[in-house]
Amino acid sequence: MSAQASELRSPDWFRSVVFYELPIRSFFDSNGDGIGDLPGVRAKLDYLTDLGVGGIWLLPFYRSPWRDDGYDISNHYEIDPRFGTVADFDALIGDAHGRGLRVIGDLVTNHVSDEHPWFQEARRSRDAPHRSWFLWSDTGTEFSRARRMFPDYEPSNWTFDEVAGQYYFHRFFATQPDLNYDTPAVHDEMFRVARFWLGHGLDGFRCDAAPYLYKREGTTCQSLPETHRFWHDLHAMMESEFPGTVLVSEANQTIAETVAYFDHGEEFPMVLHFPIMPNFYLGLAENNPKRVLDVLRATLPSAPENGAWAYFLRNHDELSLEQASEDEKALFFRYFPLPPGARVHNGVRRRLAPLVGGEDGSVLLLTALILGLPGSPFLYYGDEIGMGDRIDLPDRDAVRTPMQWENAPSAGFSTLPPDALTRPLVTDPPFAPAARNVSDQELNTRSLLWRVRTLLRIRAAHSAIFSSNLYEGIDLGGAPVLGFWRPNAEYSVLCLYNFATEPQNGSIALPGSVWASPVELLRGGLASTVADHTFRYRLAPRGFSWTMFLARRPPAPRPSAS
Ligand code: NOJ
Ligand code: CA
Repeated sequence: MSAQASELRSPDWFRSVVFYELPIRSFFDSNGDGIGDLPGVRAKLDYLTDLGVGGIWLLPFYRSPWRDDGYDISNHYEIDPRFGTVADFDALIGDAHGRGLRVIGDLVTNHVSDEHPWFQEARRSRDAPHRSWFLWSDTGTEFSRARRMFPDYEPSNWTFDEVAGQYYFHRFFATQPDLNYDTPAVHDEMFRVARFWLGHGLDGFRCDAAPYLYKREGTTCQSLPETHRFWHDLHAMMESEFPGTVLVSEANQTIAETVAYFDHGEEFPMVLHFPIMPNFYLGLAENNPKRVLDVLRATLPSAPENGAWAYFLRNHDELSLEQASEDEKALFFRYFPLPPGARVHNGVRRRLAPLVGGEDGSVLLLTALILGLPGSPFLYYGDEIGMGDRIDLPDRDAVRTPMQWENAPSAGFSTLPPDALTRPLVTDPPFAPAARNVSDQELNTRSLLWRVRTLLRIRAAHSAIFSSNLYEGIDLGGAPVLGFWRPNAEYSVLCLYNFATEPQNGSIALPGSVWASPVELLRGGLASTVADHTFRYRLAPRGFSWTMFLARRPPAPRPSAS
């Protein structure tokens, strides 16, 4: 490990970092075959450092038949040849570390591709060495309480395999047989996979489908104690063998079930905040942040001192409404106009910008919110330029279209013509490359990209504030404004977010611990005055502000006369 890389490994580096999630396949095509690749990501590292992100989450890069975009792995120790080679991977990690960027990947433990040699061998005979690596049944009736994750596509979690002469269990697509964690070799193999890529310099993993590893009859087969134990052990291994690496859980569950993945910092240092995510949108729908506040109250205390909530607005999947009530779903669908076919699984396959009607103000409000809260924000590629989606593409491909670098044929993503790309570009005029692309927005200080970058810079400049867990909510007496303090010993930042589409005026009594002379860190639509130690704000519709107040310190003791 280079000296620079080891500096990156302070134990809680992830708390001060903004992550950027990207699908290699759709980011940048370096060799003109129409498919994004690892050298393509490497070529765009300057873009990412200019944007101000400190970490990249690479979607799966392993060899795969791509029936679930790489979440169906057929060889865990190889890079998919369409993305490049292990040498390309090493070069990317080396360059990223050289720029102070961390890189995490996906660890997909629950299942493999049905084309994986383990499954191919296992299905051929009941005595095959890998038979016990999968879950078989003669009836396909067991584990009936286990949820189906892709109910639109899969009628059952069991599929009959003619070759095997039995049913096999799969939580996701039938092309993704689940592994059997009661076979100790499976557990060991996944540790081997983790060690292999951490050995290649990866800074950690986002752990796919974390709740589902162990199955027990009569249960929902999720978040079982055995499954927690597995993650616990993996975390312990990484702490001792690869100090400074991180694990992020993907557990889309109720609040109680989700917070359990922190296990007081012993299991996952970071937990993706699924419970709050839909509430950001419902808050916009109601022009009121009350629901967001309620979830914050219920969840912020659970993040351990050495851990962080991982916030996100969108990702590569559908916007999941799985945990939302029927009333909440109805509210969502009433407020957000959806084209036919936009609903899939238990959610919505739309991107952030089109969901909010292309309004930069709402995109910025929510982005500034996840940047201001205690925890680590994850941005989804292209949302910083307000990219759109393609509902005519199958399933979640709708939100995985090529990054729009320029107003050029194929958007500067590839040298191939648009009709030769394996995944087509957005064509909807307000969101198409001619309207939204990186190079035009880089030249326009009023663009979304410019303003998102500014937010990231200001957050980085005040990293001591934003990377701490200190947070004090403010009671704004029912105003549709979310307000909180981010304090520290030197100064405090007051963060305000107006969820309403009307301007908001209000006042906040300043605590005695701060001087009453505010400094605005950004102008997201704020006018303020201070009198009588009271801060009066006027926020534009969907406006927000971060305002700094120096801390009053007790007067220095006078030197005693002697
Ligand atoms: C969650 C991933 O985010 C999703 O894209 C994938 O289809 C499933 N897990 C199965 O791996
Ligand atoms: Ca390529």
